[in-house]
Amino acid sequence: MRLLLINGPNLNLLGSREPSLYGAKSLDSIEIELLSQAKKEGVELDCFQSNFEGALVDRVHQGIGSIDGILINAGAYTHTSIALRDALIGSAIPYVELHLSNIHAREHFRQNSYLAERAVGVISGFGPLSYQLALLGLLSYLRQQQSS
Ligand code: DQA
Repeated sequence: MRLLLINGPNLNLLGSREPSLYGAKSLDSIEIELLSQAKKEGVELDCFQSNFEGALVDRVHQGIGSIDGILINAGAYTHTSIALRDALIGSAIPYVELHLSNIHAREHFRQNSYLAERAVGVISGFGPLSYQLALLGLLSYLRQQQSS
């Protein structure tokens, strides 16, 4: 099984960006931990980050036919990008939306997600642990699908 982790804009700044909201871990260290969790679970994991909406859309498209599931923290594009929503739905690859912060406890404009409605599930508010919880949730969903 092959999974893809997608991180959107500004998540390359994790570690130094608003640590009280997003924690002190860098994206590199979050990815390293997730790669080791994936290895323990016996699945492959590709990691991708971009600050560009079109690059995120292209990466989703590239996953068609090779990626079984997507973990996505789309950053601010969560709240703005119909293009990313369309790419995820169009690819028909199951995805879990995740956020470090609890987007429902923040500004009003963050409380809408264009991605959530069609996600397998949404994890929000657990800091870097959100990534690991999202991986567990996605794997549980995909394994259930495989066995049914
Ligand atoms: C975020 C929440 C978004 O609202 C914000 O734009 C981000 C990070 C999170 O992980 O909490 O960039 O996705």
